[in-house]
Amino acid sequence: MRLSGMFPSIGVSLLATALFVHAENGSEGWLRYAPLPVQGARQYESIPTHVVALTGSPVARSAATELVRGLHSMLGKDFQLASSVHGEDAFVIGTPEEIRLVLPSWKVADSVRDEGFSISHFRSGGHAFWIISGGSDRGELYGVFHVLEQIAQQKPLSADAEAPSSPIRWVNQWDNLNGTIERGYAGRSIFFDAGHVRDDLTRVGDYGRLLASVGLNGATVNNVNSDLRTLEPEMIHELARIAEAFRPWGIRMSLSVDLSSPQAVGHLSTFDPVDPQVAAWWQSKVDEIYKEIPDFGGFVIKADSEGRVGPSKYGRTPAQAANTVARALKPHGGVVLYRGFVYNNHLDWNDLKADRARAGYDNFHALDGSFEPNVIIQIKHGPIDFQVREPVSPLFAALQHTSQAIELQITQEYTGQQRHMVFLVPMWKAALDTDLRAQNRYTPVKEIVEGESFHQPLGGFVGVANVGLDANWLHHPMAMANLYGFGKLAWNPDLTTGEIVDSWTRLTFGDDPKVVSTIDGLQSDSWHVYEQYTGPLGMGTLTNILGIHYGPGIESAERNGWGQWFRADSKGIGMDRTVATGTGFIGQYPPELAKVYESLASCPDNLLLFMHHVPYDYVLHNGKTLIQDVYDSHYAGAAAAATYPARWQQLQGLVDDERYQMTLDLFTYQAGHAIVWRDAVTRWFEKISGIPDQLGRVGHYPDRIAAVDMNSDGFASTEVSPWEVGSNGKAMECDRPAGCSLTARLNRAAGSYDISVQYFDLRTGASHFELILNGNSIAHWVANATLPPVALDMNLDGSTSTRFTVHDVRLAPGDTLTLRGTPDGDERAPVDYIEIERHGGAETR
Ligand code: GCU
Repeated sequence: MRLSGMFPSIGVSLLATALFVHAENGSEGWLRYAPLPVQGARQYESIPTHVVALTGSPVARSAATELVRGLHSMLGKDFQLASSVHGEDAFVIGTPEEIRLVLPSWKVADSVRDEGFSISHFRSGGHAFWIISGGSDRGELYGVFHVLEQIAQQKPLSADAEAPSSPIRWVNQWDNLNGTIERGYAGRSIFFDAGHVRDDLTRVGDYGRLLASVGLNGATVNNVNSDLRTLEPEMIHELARIAEAFRPWGIRMSLSVDLSSPQAVGHLSTFDPVDPQVAAWWQSKVDEIYKEIPDFGGFVIKADSEGRVGPSKYGRTPAQAANTVARALKPHGGVVLYRGFVYNNHLDWNDLKADRARAGYDNFHALDGSFEPNVIIQIKHGPIDFQVREPVSPLFAALQHTSQAIELQITQEYTGQQRHMVFLVPMWKAALDTDLRAQNRYTPVKEIVEGESFHQPLGGFVGVANVGLDANWLHHPMAMANLYGFGKLAWNPDLTTGEIVDSWTRLTFGDDPKVVSTIDGLQSDSWHVYEQYTGPLGMGTLTNILGIHYGPGIESAERNGWGQWFRADSKGIGMDRTVATGTGFIGQYPPELAKVYESLASCPDNLLLFMHHVPYDYVLHNGKTLIQDVYDSHYAGAAAAATYPARWQQLQGLVDDERYQMTLDLFTYQAGHAIVWRDAVTRWFEKISGIPDQLGRVGHYPDRIAAVDMNSDGFASTEVSPWEVGSNGKAMECDRPAGCSLTARLNRAAGSYDISVQYFDLRTGASHFELILNGNSIAHWVANATLPPVALDMNLDGSTSTRFTVHDVRLAPGDTLTLRGTPDGDERAPVDYIEIERHGGAETR
């Protein structure tokens, strides 16, 4: 009988203290283990101070040390790892079998599933035990994190049992070997630099800990657009170090691979998946990987998509390709996640039947049932590409004999790139809860991907995370709620948005009621708000899809092969995807749901333009015409974003200074950029439809003075593209190194005003600006690109347009306002307009 755990009884508490001396820069995410207030800590006074770990693996060791670390930090007492259950009250961590060996009379209420856990209270021999039993060492770790999360939220410690929804709970990172991250918005890669795995992988271990704390168990570390060197022997050797850094947290590393690897790396003459030499190459490559990385997770494959080669080159199917690779992985327990994101990006815009949304279903549905059991089709939640609103992919209902995983995007590629707050859990919940009515029965997406609806063995959740070296992982302090929420939903998709945001806020910012209600409120509405000021009614995000996918760039979606069309003309807008007259996409859904979308009477307004082409004066279910709804929605969204800074300012002193200031700067920026969005989209719609805004807002900006209309000393007019993102498509730029100025004589009634300058902030210079009122300087700032898009954009466009506001300026009739701009590098102090509004007006607009 094994009576003891594996740890000597040493005081780990000292170590824990050392780990916890840190500033509040967001690096701990939701794992801050902030000391509990005396009141809150009281209920835990009698919990054991000894922790006995019975399982001898690195993951189990993490579980035990994490428990000691968290308890010590939150409760301020010493907790010890102990080697035996005798003589003390203790937390006992182990599998049910291990626990029964040391405490024979303990019984677990239910069977504990592989990665699940059960928490129970038990008395024996005069001692009290909290037992954290896991179906595996991962289950133990998840049980420990559960206990710590309960305590961090001051919830009573109670008996509990949980198990994850599904086996695949992975993140994908789109990191390149050179250290950049495709669609990453928070600094460079934590894994790679200059073509190699980084020497210092401390952050990888920290990341593994964060992922494990929300129940995630896998990470694909390189870009889906995989570097051909990924499977070179030297690279595999380097990659093994990443797997090692993740291992103590139960995170299995996996890789994205290019299907041409047998040729590119193996120097075969072909990569035809049915060629026996190719199959043999994959087998030996996979064997080589498992020698170095015994817990390797498998491969993610992007093929025949956006320029990546694939089986189509040899007339083979995705199933033939996936299966060849899967067979090689099978003996080792690895899986293939074959991406359903296969489409032709050279579609014919003139063909009214052409439709990118159809591609997933068209390419995969006939292959259902022909995949090896260790193949999972990884399907983006919508049929296009992470737009602000999409219906769910009909492919989920079409694959009834194939395991599936839903791909969600944590990194905010089309949703504000972590410069705008957009809490994505409500969007994901909408997708997961969509009942596809496959076989005319309740088949919500969440149950399909769990493998429940169609009894599939594998399946689950993949989140494209793209954390980077920024101290707080995702740049925007609010964005971490998306990583947290993704993990929580992957574990249990039945959790509500409210439950998720509330826990995250309490763990991340503390449980002051004002902090909790303010942050919960801001986060909960943020997706809807972003949708309102970008692309409502299912028309797509309306960003520049040919650029960095950030600011407005409306027409970029039209008249090209990418197929993100909304087909606007002078009469109407929307993709006709009906079966009756359109592309037939709607017919890919099971009949009951297809019927809802096919009919204008039942199609929900928020997906209207995804499904139908309608005239601008079409009356929505809310009673407004389509065009007026577009105007109103953009104004409402920008007005809501305008409230963010003031709402956040209520929390000054209640959250730490560093995170307070960073969030305030981001909210201020977002409020300004929402105006850029609002104006660009509404102007564009007014022009194409020829129908004015009933409320007279669009195109009429009485508080603005366009830079081109001011008296210029040295500034010269320049084009803004697309036209709708600048006043009359024009801005003023300064070419004189010593600077230029724009002056206007104001004629405002005496009073207090907010003066905003709308300028363009490029990444290639740091222009200086100064506002001067009647000869006195009232503000000075540098366009240093700390807030506009993270990606390089050299243009005066909807991504770089930025706003600076000076509040509460006293004006009187006849005042003279001057803006001085001094260029720097390639940035020529570009200015769009100045807006002078009654003080506080922006917040109440
Ligand atoms: C989007 C994204 C690409 C990415 C692709 C994918 O199109 O913009 O950067 O490679 O999705 O998911 O494969």
